[in-house]
Amino acid sequence: MALLHWSPNLSVGIDFMDNDHKQLMLLINDLHHAVGGGSATEIVTEKMDKLIDFAQRHFTREEKEMEKSNYHWFEHHKRIHEALIEEIVELRQEFVTGGIEIGPETTDFLESWIVSHILESDKHLGGFLQGRSSR
Ligand SMILES: [Fe+2]
Ligand SMILES: [Fe+2]
Repeated sequence: MALLHWSPNLSVGIDFMDNDHKQLMLLINDLHHAVGGGSATEIVTEKMDKLIDFAQRHFTREEKEMEKSNYHWFEHHKRIHEALIEEIVELRQEFVTGGIEIGPETTDFLESWIVSHILESDKHLGGFLQGRSSR
C-alpha cells in the first residue's frame, strides 16, 4: 500500500475525530518511511511508540464521547480499539526482542486497519454524535 492521504470521504463529521485521524495517518506514514528506509531498530521502535501512544489517547477520547452520549455500540467499538492496541503492542514486543522484522506488511496492515475502522465504525459513531448535537 502507498502512503496514507486523508481525503474528505474519510471525514466522520466530528472535528476532533477527523483531526486525530489525520495525525494517526501521519504517524503511520512516518513508520512506513522508517521501515522502508531501513532505519535502525531504535528509530522504528520510537515511531511505533509514538503511534501506540497517540492511538491510545485517540481511542480514549472516542470512548469518552461514546460513554457520555450513551452510544449503543460503545462496548463493541471499544473492544475493536483494544484488540488493535494489543496487536501493535505485541508486534512491538516481538520486534524489540528480535523475534520478527517490521516490514511493509505491518504498515500495510495498519493502513488498511485505520481506513476500514474509520469507514465502518468511526463514521457510524460520527453520524450518531452529529445527530445528538443537532437536537
Ligand atoms: Fe477513530
Ligand atoms: Fe474508533
